Amino acid sequence: MAENSNPSRKRVALIPGDGIGKEVVPAAVKVMKAAAAAGGRDLALTEFDWGADRYLRDGTTLPADAPEMFRRDFDAILLGALGDPRTPENKHGADILLGLRSKLDLYVNARPCVLFDRRLTPLKNRTEDDVRFLVLRENTEGLYVGMGGFFKKGTADEVAIQEDLNTRKGVERIIRYAFKHAKARGLTRVCMSDKSNALTFGHDLWQRVFKIVRQEYPEIEASHQYIDNLLMQMVRDPSQFQVIVTSNLFGDIASDLGAQLAGGLGLAPSGNIHPGQVSLFEPVHGSAPNIAGKGIANPLGSILTVAMMFEYLGWNDEAGAIDRAVRAALREGKTPAELGGTLGTREVGDWVARALAKQ
Ligand code: NAD
Ligand code: IPM
Ligand code: MN
Repeated sequence: MAENSNPSRKRVALIPGDGIGKEVVPAAVKVMKAAAAAGGRDLALTEFDWGADRYLRDGTTLPADAPEMFRRDFDAILLGALGDPRTPENKHGADILLGLRSKLDLYVNARPCVLFDRRLTPLKNRTEDDVRFLVLRENTEGLYVGMGGFFKKGTADEVAIQEDLNTRKGVERIIRYAFKHAKARGLTRVCMSDKSNALTFGHDLWQRVFKIVRQEYPEIEASHQYIDNLLMQMVRDPSQFQVIVTSNLFGDIASDLGAQLAGGLGLAPSGNIHPGQVSLFEPVHGSAPNIAGKGIANPLGSILTVAMMFEYLGWNDEAGAIDRAVRAALREGKTPAELGGTLGTREVGDWVARALAKQ
């Protein structure tokens, strides 16, 4: 990433992946191109065909040189989704998605839950002001490190172990990121969520680190909620949250719930980030095999993901323009079935791209 010194030209890798990933990424790319063109920016796009088809064809998942190549040749990666009913063990998804998160050391998974239009939340009497928070998910450790194994697999005496790895450095950097982010955005509240009442080693570390880091930010109101309570509170009164910081698995779960509070899983963007390094952006949703191939998937989450990516790359005006165009689509009912509209995936992308050209 350091080799590209031209702020108006960015090199973006595309990994559409599986299922609806192959439908929403093209729509997002159309919008990406329209936004870049409107801002006089130059994009170099390179597509990679990694996913279930390729894996089943020749066994390729994440090529060994891929992390180095992304670091050297790209500024950002846009990914659709990985997961296919033909490969239920999800070997390729783990290698590609979790592999990139870990090998590129993308320790921040930023998942904004922002309600753009009050008609879209399932919560009663809630408005845009009530659902506006960010889930910061630790993205390289926890229960996702793949440590563990089976003993006597397939027998009545089977033992299966899955380790929960928490390092001082890993916990500290995501917690510090949460406070830094809040401060930089003029926000005043950070809530850390763990399960330290039951996970008395790993999450005891989260408790202790949180207490140390919060002292560096006396202007931020730092609170703590156990994860079970947090999920309940997100439904009861989401307006209490600005920034939530939590572990890998808990953040995965909290971000699907938050996505629905903000209107739907198909609307939710995310960024897998290591500040200053090549980072990976993807919608929060998966490959949705139940609707794949029908052309009805909501591409707005992927489109908002492009806005997040542009903001990360320093293209703030273009990011803002995408945000406004998506808001216009929602206001005018130019939406897919998930949001009660009648437009298909491609039509929604085309509408947003046209709106950008007109802005
Ligand atoms: P999912 O997110 O794919 O789908 C959950 C539900 O939400 C489904 O009913 C689906 O139709 C709906 N949905 C999701 N995205 C939508 C969109 N854009 N528009 C309209 N509706 C949408 O989760 P799942 O069903 O648990 O998983 C399916 C596959 O995706 C699995 O293989 C899973 O491992 C994988 N997955 C991948 C990612 C990723 O690549 N980041 C994320 C989650 C799940
Ligand atoms: C996500 C997904 C992944 C995760 C799966 C596909 C491994 O659910 O990005 O939210 O759990 O991180
Ligand atoms: Mn998930």
